[in-house]
Amino acid sequence: MPWLLVVHIVFLLVWCGTLLYLPALIADSYGADFDPSREPGVLPPRRLFNLLATPAALLTIASGTLLFLVQGIFGVWLVLKLTAVAVMAICHVVCGALILRLESEPRSGVAFPCVVLAATSALAVLCAVWLVLAKPD
Ligand code: HEM
Repeated sequence: MPWLLVVHIVFLLVWCGTLLYLPALIADSYGADFDPSREPGVLPPRRLFNLLATPAALLTIASGTLLFLVQGIFGVWLVLKLTAVAVMAICHVVCGALILRLESEPRSGVAFPCVVLAATSALAVLCAVWLVLAKPD
């Protein structure tokens, strides 16, 4: 089913993009120089997280699971890939938790958690893509 693979790739590109961009956006929106008058209402990190990142994550996982069920393929690479996807999902949840915490304490330190989140997400995305393309036994 080539169309399912295309759907999978489109949603995973959106999820990976938002996962890599969110830490930078969070670091830019909050922190010591946070100014509540600059951006009243819902801040961009929460909008991006709710409207794009979370739906893309769910649809990537749903389309990947469908691909797995339809093609019936299995291998060590898939187990390792799912481990990398689990790390991406944990980074996603931590991003959401960080946004919630910063909404109540906007001036707390954000640089360190954002650097760790960005680096871990990038590593997990690279591992997942390498595993699915190389398919090591
Ligand atoms: C629960 C989550 C996921 C499952 C079950 C899943 C499963 C699959 C399956 C079964 C394929 C078809 C492989 C083939 O035809 O040889 C596939 C393709 C692919 N997946 Fe996923 N996937 C998931 C999430 C992800 C994520 C998060 C990424 C990227 C970070 C990703 C990257 C890719 C790529 C690049 C392909 C195309 C590989 C090719 O055409 O050779 N997948 N996925």
